[in-house]
Amino acid sequence: MILRSSISTACCRPVTRLPRKNLSLYSPSTKPFFVTTPIFYVNASPHIGHLHSLVLTDVLARFAKLRSPQRKVIFTTGTDEHGLKIQQAAKAQGVEEGEFCARVSQRFRDLADRANVGYTDFIRTAEPRHYRAVEHFWNRLVESGDVYKGTHSGWYSISDECFYSEKQIRQDESGKIVAIETGNEVVWEEEENWKFRLPRYRERLLSWADRPESIHPLSMKSFVTSQMASVEDLSISRPRSRVRWGVPVPGDPNQTIYVWVDALINYLTVLGYPASADGWPVDVHVVGKDIIKFHAVHWPALLMSAGLEPPRQVLSHAHWTMGKFKMSKSRGNVVDPIAAMDKYGPEPIRWYLMREGGSLPDDSDFNLDQLNANYSVLAQQFGNLLNRVTSPKIVQKMGSITSHHPLPDFDAALSSARDRVEGFMSNHQITKACEVILNLIADANKLVTDMRPWEANNDATIPVLYAYQALRISGILAQPFMPVKSSEMLDRLAVDPTQRTWNDATWTGRSGFDALALKEQLSRSLPGSLFPRLNP
Ligand code: MSP
Repeated sequence: MILRSSISTACCRPVTRLPRKNLSLYSPSTKPFFVTTPIFYVNASPHIGHLHSLVLTDVLARFAKLRSPQRKVIFTTGTDEHGLKIQQAAKAQGVEEGEFCARVSQRFRDLADRANVGYTDFIRTAEPRHYRAVEHFWNRLVESGDVYKGTHSGWYSISDECFYSEKQIRQDESGKIVAIETGNEVVWEEEENWKFRLPRYRERLLSWADRPESIHPLSMKSFVTSQMASVEDLSISRPRSRVRWGVPVPGDPNQTIYVWVDALINYLTVLGYPASADGWPVDVHVVGKDIIKFHAVHWPALLMSAGLEPPRQVLSHAHWTMGKFKMSKSRGNVVDPIAAMDKYGPEPIRWYLMREGGSLPDDSDFNLDQLNANYSVLAQQFGNLLNRVTSPKIVQKMGSITSHHPLPDFDAALSSARDRVEGFMSNHQITKACEVILNLIADANKLVTDMRPWEANNDATIPVLYAYQALRISGILAQPFMPVKSSEMLDRLAVDPTQRTWNDATWTGRSGFDALALKEQLSRSLPGSLFPRLNP
């Protein structure tokens, strides 16, 4: 058998330099890896942006488990059910708030389940355990001397559930007064409420924000520090006469705890707070860029006041747009995630969200052509290579002719894939991690195409070996992204279920490789279609 000389170098792209690692995030530890999604408002149905937050967090949680299987993972999500926005949404539907929240909350839970999101707890802020945590936390703030009763006047946005100052609003083209940051309408409110002495924490906040890992991506840091520099006392309750759907202020039943304070405390409730806070601090709070201020300014200060450590990291992702506008119910440009998963399957949607939306600083425009193209790539690359490597016609030829032609680029690509994925994941370069996985498969397909193992006089052993290793290693590394499809793929390759760990995602080269054992293994492979043709 003669290999065409071009194969050894042309099959594979040169291995790119490894990114800087932030190993501490995923390295083995006795502290659980604790990661959270924001809890979702139940005023409207879930859309693809919500699914993005869920999938991104799930990918981090699954990666942590793959990387350090002994380390406990706590991954929490849930629904944010209090406040004026929800109170009004329930009223608009003529339903009592509790019933309304239970119904919409279930839709978020169904969404997470359908998308194979492996949360360990789903919290609803209407639960009694959460009331207990909020009341206790409030009392800690009071004890710290950071809370006082005063009057507050400002521009309130029901949609954003927050006050804005005079400097943070403007009049839009239609004459409405809106928040500059979000464009949402605001109304002037003057009321008595409880306030939190946020400026007391300015210096500590700034030094927390200054740690390299606290805010990711770094491009968000200047926004956060500018917010910190100008903080004022924070209104942390609303008169019950205005907002009756929420947790009453302990000892002051005429006031309701501000919905953002209530909601942020969910991250402690899930640990069993106040009885336990085992697992604290959070390793990564995943949030959309629209809510970073609450997580990276208000929340760390509240935690400091309550005597708890601030989060290790707040990770902000950009938005999915449709026609370049942020998806929103009022604009009517939302993508229904359930319909998308019905058509493409949950895992191709997960892959699409991470591959196209995984470069966290930039918005991504949801686009059906791009989604279809991503699906075709999955089918043509993963599906096709799997079919080739398990084709009885090719497998039966293994071992008969063996070339010893070196494929150094390919060896390097296989042996370094795991480290490159880890490097990218440690820096939250999710799109790049997806590309390492995909490139391994694409290069293996090219090798097979070039070596034509189906032809009578050509070697099948080497192309099948490399293609198998590419599928096996990328199948292991793809588990956080497509947990079900990856295991389907590894099952089809007859990879032992106990050999799908981080330690197994390696390649030590061809020496000692037993072609007949692989031939026997692949002859046991299962038929199937990994990414079937879509119904039109
Ligand atoms: N309830 C608050 C969070 C409280 S956490 C203590 C909230 N809820 S939300 O339902 O409005 O948003 C939940 C998450 O979905 C946020 O991270 C938000 O950024 C994200 N997304 C909402 N629309 C989005 C897109 N169009 N694209 C990507 N994510 C977006 O805020």
